[in-house]
Amino acid sequence: MSKMNKTFKLVTAAFAAMVVSTSAAFAAGDLVKAPKQDWSFNGPFGVFDRASQQRGFQIFQEVCASCHSLEYIAFRNLTDIGFSADEAKAVAAEYQVPSEPNDEGEIVDRAAKPSDFWPSPYANAKEAAATNNGKAPPDLSLMAKARVGGADYIYGLLTGYEDHEGTPENLHYNKYFPGYYIAMAAPLSDGAVDYVDGTPNTVEQMAKDVSHFLMWAAEPKLEDRKSLGVRVMLFLLVLTFITFLAYRRVSKKVKGH
Ligand code: HEC
Repeated sequence: MSKMNKTFKLVTAAFAAMVVSTSAAFAAGDLVKAPKQDWSFNGPFGVFDRASQQRGFQIFQEVCASCHSLEYIAFRNLTDIGFSADEAKAVAAEYQVPSEPNDEGEIVDRAAKPSDFWPSPYANAKEAAATNNGKAPPDLSLMAKARVGGADYIYGLLTGYEDHEGTPENLHYNKYFPGYYIAMAAPLSDGAVDYVDGTPNTVEQMAKDVSHFLMWAAEPKLEDRKSLGVRVMLFLLVLTFITFLAYRRVSKKVKGH
């Protein structure tokens, strides 16, 4: 056997072993992918559902914000999801943010303005971790883009808690969380908030609304992107038609000669 041939065989064998071992590793864990949900923002004509976004904001504000920050969303961005400028201002005023250092060099908290970004509930990452059994709650601004499955994953995570024997202390079993054991206790329970619009406040409904809201937080321009896509497709369609007409005219003339 030539040397070249031998190397080739070795490489293929190594590759085969790699494939076998990785597929075995996949088979060992039975992590289920969060099922796909029927979101209004799916598909080429997708748009956000304003009512669901606003309910989702309520969930974020009343439940998630006690542990999670939303650092890329400013209070004034709430006008995107149907709040008036005054309402956004009123929401901002409920929060305190660190000010610029004063003449003595001290930083004192002041009421937030609409242009301020959503503050973290913790003074720093160390405090965030120390308060949550060593795992700092991650920022949620881009979460719906950062995780495989996006909004489906967040919805799955919020509804995927189960009792499981052998779950380590201070951790919680979640069938959609990679590794299963998550430091976040199930944040939602039936009736956790009161919806002003009378929507049933079940865990599923609240999970759906907050996932919808977080999808907007991660991609506020989703509607613009989709409607631009549709307009470009229409334009190309018309252009194709005109080109076809021009082609027919020219080819008629050519054949006529
Ligand atoms: C009591 C504090 C607390 C509350 C309230 C809370 N979380 Fe968490 N969350 C955590 C912690 C801690 C982690 C980190 C968990 C880990 O990595 O094990 C986390 C992680 C997450 C993650 C990331 C999971 C991943 O794939 O890494 C998402 C998404 C999330 N939380 C969403 C939410 C939403 C939505 C709400 C509100 C409905 C919420 N959380 C409420 C503490 C909290």
